[in-house]
Amino acid sequence: MSPTLDEMKTIAREAGEILRAGYGQVHQVEMKSLIDPVTETDKRSEEFIVSYIKKHYPDHSIVAEESGVHQGSNGSCWYIDPLDGTVNFSHGVPIFCVSIAYAEDGVMKLGAVYDPMLDEMFSAEKGKGAWLNDRRIQVTEISDLIRSLTVTGFPYDQKSAEMQQALDLYRRFSLQAQACRRFGSAALDCCYVAAGRMDIYFEITVNSYDIAAGILLVEEAGGITSKYDGSTDCLSKPISIVAANKHLHPQALRVIQQG
Ligand code: IPD
Ligand code: CA
Ligand code: CA
Repeated sequence: MSPTLDEMKTIAREAGEILRAGYGQVHQVEMKSLIDPVTETDKRSEEFIVSYIKKHYPDHSIVAEESGVHQGSNGSCWYIDPLDGTVNFSHGVPIFCVSIAYAEDGVMKLGAVYDPMLDEMFSAEKGKGAWLNDRRIQVTEISDLIRSLTVTGFPYDQKSAEMQQALDLYRRFSLQAQACRRFGSAALDCCYVAAGRMDIYFEITVNSYDIAAGILLVEEAGGITSKYDGSTDCLSKPISIVAANKHLHPQALRVIQQG
């Protein structure tokens, strides 16, 4: 049995209600590493989503941020980020979402990303398109790098080589594009490219559950996604992602691959 997009949107909306209820409250913040937080709301949202899937699709696998991999018995797999943007959430910044994706035999079929603060539901179905609430969305047609609005994120390991690379790329895109933003939610970053709000999103050291739904959104909105080396198996490790329209994607790769 396979889920429907409407069903996935209902799950994402209910999990989003959990996030909205927790927003602005005093949190029990635990640190997974020096700067990587998790709150009771991340866990509550994930418990809700994972228990729904286990009840209705007991043979499916799940890759979930807080509880890890739940091995199923067939080729169906869900990718769950129960709260993408936890640093924002824990500081009372209203930029965060829940992200859910569903794949069959390695092919992403459905994705839903819900922002409960703006009541924005981004969704996509393989071969059928991408939507923001009930409206079809498309990537932009901008082709000049200097006119493009870009967005990125940074690794939690501040001492890593990837952090140095991320800072270097932030500098390059800030100098070669119109601007480079940092919102703090990889899933929303992808959705904003899909919806034509941003032109390019790039990031290194993200996880599959951060971007699985967002990749489908971008592709179904007419955009292109790849790793930094141009290969298209974006969810295989080590993960990196460049998402943009067809004009800007090769230009973004050139900026990234500059020596
Ligand atoms: C993080 C956010 C952030 C990105 C990090 C992610 P989390 O997810 O998406 O924008 O830069 O790479 O880990 O920890 O808030 O779920
Ligand atoms: Ca995340
Ligand atoms: Ca998260």
